[in-house]
Amino acid sequence: MGTGMTEKTLIVSKIRNGTVIDHITGGHALDVLRVLDVNGRDGEVLAIAINVPSRKLGVKDMVKFEGRELESGEVDRIALLAPKATINIVRDYDVVEKQVVRLPKILKGIVKCVNPTCISNSKEPIQSTLYIKQEEPFYAKCHYCGHIMEKDELLKQF
Ligand code: CTP
Ligand code: ZN
Repeated sequence: MGTGMTEKTLIVSKIRNGTVIDHITGGHALDVLRVLDVNGRDGEVLAIAINVPSRKLGVKDMVKFEGRELESGEVDRIALLAPKATINIVRDYDVVEKQVVRLPKILKGIVKCVNPTCISNSKEPIQSTLYIKQEEPFYAKCHYCGHIMEKDELLKQF
């Protein structure tokens, strides 16, 4: 394709107040929005950049929310999709805070257990609960059936 775009070129402009989620794994920005329950129909002002060049990551995605500061609980939900993400809080055009995304120890209601016979996949009103036992190499364990899952099995649910 060769757009000739470099990291110096801003595909979306700076925001005045809000949150910039930077360094999202390339191609996952729309998944991040889904996990955050943002669909654009509540009047939110936001910009999305997908597969833009990044020195650190090769390519990256970015999401900029104007007028909204994300809370750390919300940020944890995106850790699976964007483990290298940086959350920048912007006030009056300046980055006043930079948070690094961390994988939470427990994922509740974010991804399902892949064991089809697990009680959390039955008609019972049970919220999926997975423990992240290890980050590198990643594996998670279901609270209900003990099934062990790798990262790919969880990522393909998004
Ligand atoms: N940003 C923005 N609006 C602002 C300030 C910053 O959209 N008013 C964006 C920048 O475009 C960048 C991110 O927020 O994508 C982080 O900004 P900054 O910390 O200034 O950039 P870097 O130093 O390159 O950040 P890092 O070291 O985390 O890569
Ligand atoms: Zn299970």
